[in-house]
Amino acid sequence: MIPPIEIESARPQDLDSIQALLGEHGLPIDGMLDQIPTTVVARTAGRVVGSAGLELYPDGALLRSIVVAPQMQRQGVGHRLIEAAIAIAITRRVPAIYLLTITTEEYFAKFGFTRVDRAAVPDMVKGSAEFKGARSSSAAVMRKTLQRDPRREPRLVFLQGSRTIELFWTEALAAFRQQVEAESTKQH
Ligand SMILES: CC(C)(COP(=O)(O)OP(=O)(O)OC[C@H]1O[C@@H](n2cnc3c(N)ncnc32)[C@H](O)[C@@H]1OP(=O)(O)O)[C@@H](O)C(=O)NCCC(=O)NCCS
Repeated sequence: MIPPIEIESARPQDLDSIQALLGEHGLPIDGMLDQIPTTVVARTAGRVVGSAGLELYPDGALLRSIVVAPQMQRQGVGHRLIEAAIAIAITRRVPAIYLLTITTEEYFAKFGFTRVDRAAVPDMVKGSAEFKGARSSSAAVMRKTLQRDPRREPRLVFLQGSRTIELFWTEALAAFRQQVEAESTKQH
């Protein structure tokens, strides 16, 4: 039986295997250790056969270190890794994901990434090791903008201006009054 390929969060002990895969494909390895908590790996029979890393910045995320072992390619592993990384970015509420690519522009277009000018990249993402790396200038920059689901937006009542706080208390007081009135009507 062929062992299944699982997509899961990377562990610190996966670092060597991820770096070996990246090295085999000439992809940068700088800063990978810090990104382990937001990296996903493809694992089969206990072996790492693929990875996708996400560097999170307040103004955007950088998708990097996407690699699948040659013998495992064209089986949808890359697709599953990228979808998992996109899901992490959505959960972390970043506005957009950026990436640099030299040979895989067409592949990433399938996930909704489009080519953008470097000027469109937020400064923090541009400050990443990958953007500052030697091969960066010859790579295309791609972006996928993420849609926010308003139902999953955090309630920022206490973090916003005083007018909002005032509105919150006015509404809370009105609801409380209504409840008291309803209770007293029931009693009479
Ligand atoms: C790019 C990569 C991660 C794709 O992984 P994968 O598991 O083989 O991809 P999937 O199985 O999800 O998708 C395979 C499809 O993508 C296509 N594809 C793969 N590489 C491609 C590329 N460079 N350009 C366009 N399409 C590509 C395949 O032709 C295949 O298409 P098909 O389904 O019509 O046959 C893998 O080829 C790889 O590790 N490449 C070397 C490292 C690399 O270039 N990483 C990207 C750095 S930005």
